[in-house]
Amino acid sequence: MELNKIHGGDALILLKQLSENSVDLVICDGPYGVTSNEWDKVSDIQDFNLNLIQLFSRILKPGGALYLFGKDNCLDFIDYRPFLTLNRRLIWYQPSRLAQGRQNFTNNYDLIAYFSKGKAKTFNLNDIRVPQLVELEHRKRCENVPSVVNGQYEKTKFNENGKNPGDVWGDIKQLTYKSKELINRELLNTIQKPERLIERLVKASSAEGDTVLDPFSGVGTTFAVCKKLNRNFIGFEQNEDYMKLANERISKLNAIDNSKN
Ligand SMILES: C[S@@+](CC[C@H](N)C(=O)[O-])C[C@H]1O[C@@H](n2cnc3c(N)ncnc32)[C@H](O)[C@@H]1O
Repeated sequence: MELNKIHGGDALILLKQLSENSVDLVICDGPYGVTSNEWDKVSDIQDFNLNLIQLFSRILKPGGALYLFGKDNCLDFIDYRPFLTLNRRLIWYQPSRLAQGRQNFTNNYDLIAYFSKGKAKTFNLNDIRVPQLVELEHRKRCENVPSVVNGQYEKTKFNENGKNPGDVWGDIKQLTYKSKELINRELLNTIQKPERLIERLVKASSAEGDTVLDPFSGVGTTFAVCKKLNRNFIGFEQNEDYMKLANERISKLNAIDNSKN
């Protein structure tokens, strides 16, 4: 299938046209099954995700990774273990989300489930480090406090280049009406993800020249990130308006590149 292009059509059909073991990384930000958008309506989100996981396990290379976006219950009661290994449930925490709940605690995070096909072949920690938050004085004290690693006590180590971002990410904000990168106001809160979020995933789990698949491309955030980070991209999208916006976004990036040369 042609690289560095968004292919129009139904992802569930197009996925079957990809060769076995051909993709290094999948960024899957598809239906959550919670909004009134037509494309978000699925009868059972867990079954839908299990089917996707099965399809991804065929096309991923051994050691390749999948980041699957969803709500807190998107993996409940399904057995994905025959297909992929779940390495971590990442919490994309959005404290500013409106607290609309009256009968229950409001959900204010998205889940990003990090899977790999067998043991992950790539994890570029040095490319995704975040600033150490503790102050110098406290750091010195902490360095003498033992921490438990795999049941054994080891000294806490600090890296001057920053720390592992961990599994609760509150440092990347959802886009707002004021965000410069917002492609279209009407798409806010429905589809477009911040580039910084996708960038962290692509940097962590792929290398330059790798092939990244985004089967629900929307307005092309993963495509834009892959272009900037020199990864190859394959996208699927069924909505022609979103495809058009994504292609315009990439044309602008190409124009900037050409003006530099
Ligand atoms: C949450 S949005 C993706 C947003 C994207 N991450 C971005 O930042 O632009 C999900 C997208 O999946 C598309 N979609 C949903 N079901 C699809 C299907 N079966 N095949 C292809 N695209 C689909 C929708 O049209 C929508 O654009």
